Amino acid sequence: MSDFQQIFGTAPKAEASAPGRVNLLGEHTDYSDGFVLPTAIPQHTTVGLGLSADALHHFYSEQLDEQVTVLESEETDRTPSGFASYIFGCVRILEREGYTIPHLNLYVTSSVPIGSGLSSSAALEVATLRGLRALLNLPLDDVQIAQMAQQAEIHYAGVQCGIMDQMASSLADTEHMLFLDTRTLESQVLPFPRGAEVVVIDSGAPRTLAASGYNERRADCEEAARLLGVKALRDITGVEAVGGLPEPLRRRARHVVSENNRVLEAVRGVPAERFGELMNASHASLRDDYEVSVPALDALVGILQETPGVFGARLTGAGFGGACVALVAQGKAGEMAKDVLERYSRAGYAGKLLVPAVS
Ligand code: GLA
Repeated sequence: MSDFQQIFGTAPKAEASAPGRVNLLGEHTDYSDGFVLPTAIPQHTTVGLGLSADALHHFYSEQLDEQVTVLESEETDRTPSGFASYIFGCVRILEREGYTIPHLNLYVTSSVPIGSGLSSSAALEVATLRGLRALLNLPLDDVQIAQMAQQAEIHYAGVQCGIMDQMASSLADTEHMLFLDTRTLESQVLPFPRGAEVVVIDSGAPRTLAASGYNERRADCEEAARLLGVKALRDITGVEAVGGLPEPLRRRARHVVSENNRVLEAVRGVPAERFGELMNASHASLRDDYEVSVPALDALVGILQETPGVFGARLTGAGFGGACVALVAQGKAGEMAKDVLERYSRAGYAGKLLVPAVS
């Protein structure tokens, strides 16, 4: 990292990376203790770390060309905002666990798009914790890193997220799907459906309502579970069981229960065609029952679904904007995406191909 040298005047003492993720199936299930099926994307975040020469943390983001200085002491706990909040959150969570963290120089460089729903924040948290593990020789495994990254996000970035993104960033690779039980944190790496590859296209729609909408959906699920007398909606296995709930809780719960069942079917090793149908059904459920889609996402998913060579497509991540994921016939991604983006732009939108990554 020669850029670290330019900013901080010394070479970094440790370096670490972590990828963004895209979720193939199992959306809005993790905070109901459910099942998810993400994969890592090639875009990743890298941090370089060294020791600060003064009693301050210095965090620099190359993507934003911004340097943030954080005064940290026992008495003050002023959380910085923006990218620095994720890094500072990781430092604080480690300290809470009893580790002593020296004042740091930390340089971030990332190719994970911000605001597309591909977990740029989880990639930054996991890269930071991996970097600190390397710098300080901390005895942490990858699941512990994901758990601490999630705590950093909840307590210092203020998002009541589940654990999918941090587990995906910490455990997944780009060659497999990661099947994760978010209750037990047991995970399994599985091959993609035979003859298929993953395409991710950004809809160009900003995720403006994501934070408030996310927390509302989460509260709906908790209320539905309470009314049904279970710990979490994961404990309901058949959609009939949610029929007596008041609206909109009935539809929210129906999404979670049916989505968990789609993941469980997908991991039994279904062919790409069936996997695609499950993705299409997931989108319909997120649009109609969970109500986290927007017109741009529906338009893009609609175009994808009618394109030859596409097995299935859906919005991915929290929704309200951001990216769509599709499963397509292997080797067809480039040509297919070109055609889809042209039609999407004729419909009045501006999309962007994110995976396969164009260098
Ligand atoms: C965001 C959260 C995740 C998960 C998804 C929706 O990415 O960070 O924990 O809830 O939304 O599936």
